[in-house]
Amino acid sequence: MDNASFLQDLFGMQGQVAVVVGGAGALGLCLATGLGKNGAKIVVADMNEDACKTAVEKLSAEGIEAIYKTVNVTDKQSLIALREEALKLTGQVDMLINCAGINAGTSFLEVDENKWDAIMAVNLKGTMLACQVFIEAMLKNKDGGSILNIGSVNTARPLSRVFAYAASKAGVVNLTRNIAQEFGTQGIRCNAICPGFFPAEQNRKLLDAKRVENIMNGTPMRRYGDPNELVGAAILLLAKKAGSYITGSPVYVDGGFTASWF
Ligand SMILES: NC(=O)c1ccc[n+]([C@@H]2O[C@H](COP(=O)([O-])OP(=O)(O)OC[C@H]3O[C@@H](n4cnc5c(N)ncnc54)[C@H](O)[C@@H]3O)[C@@H](O)[C@H]2O)c1
Repeated sequence: MDNASFLQDLFGMQGQVAVVVGGAGALGLCLATGLGKNGAKIVVADMNEDACKTAVEKLSAEGIEAIYKTVNVTDKQSLIALREEALKLTGQVDMLINCAGINAGTSFLEVDENKWDAIMAVNLKGTMLACQVFIEAMLKNKDGGSILNIGSVNTARPLSRVFAYAASKAGVVNLTRNIAQEFGTQGIRCNAICPGFFPAEQNRKLLDAKRVENIMNGTPMRRYGDPNELVGAAILLLAKKAGSYITGSPVYVDGGFTASWF
């Protein structure tokens, strides 16, 4: 095997199918593009239909085979409909990325119960439901399947003013490990990426001057991440061969944020 084939064999995703839930968002679309350029067919699944259409246009413009279906991750029936459509159109789902997420910031005494419930419903319950629905299908695959959940640095260092978000992401990492434990012998791997700070629509509004200063002081690399810097970790964790013995792992892609302390 020549050197190029060696890497292709290890990391390649030619012909495999990835469902990217939250795939019309900033990080989801970037991950979808990375997997697509690496040979995967992409199913963009998101509640924002206009953004789904734009995402598929962008993926197609890159020469990536992509379709979309709208989904609400808080609704199991909606996820089942997504799975059935994905199976009908592609035959098999090999990979699932759970990238849907919402956030809101307040002081602790101002935490609003409804917002708490909404954040938990999308970030934690939504991740659990999507895993449940797609693992049912992956268990029928000859070669199993691989899941990538999205945690956050605040699973290791709770960030101020985002109480529900931080708790939900800690839950996502716990869930990731528990799923890895449950399906370890059945060909299903489940890992998480825990990103540091990649400013996008949903979190830019939380970044006031003081917070930016704290983030930069707490990040050894002294800069934000670029979403493209998540792609390598995602491919490593998801690839059937490169990631074959990695399961239950939260991988921090954070410029050293969780490694540093004052
Ligand atoms: N951007 C960052 O710095 C950062 C850091 C750490 C973790 N994360 C996590 O990464 C993930 C993606 O974040 P992003 O920055 O791309 O945000 P984003 O807002 O750009 O993308 C999130 C996507 O989720 C979709 N979504 C929201 N609720 C949904 C629901 N009920 N059903 C289906 N889709 C729904 C939205 O339509 C959106 O397209 C989130 O889980 C976020 O918490 C982001």
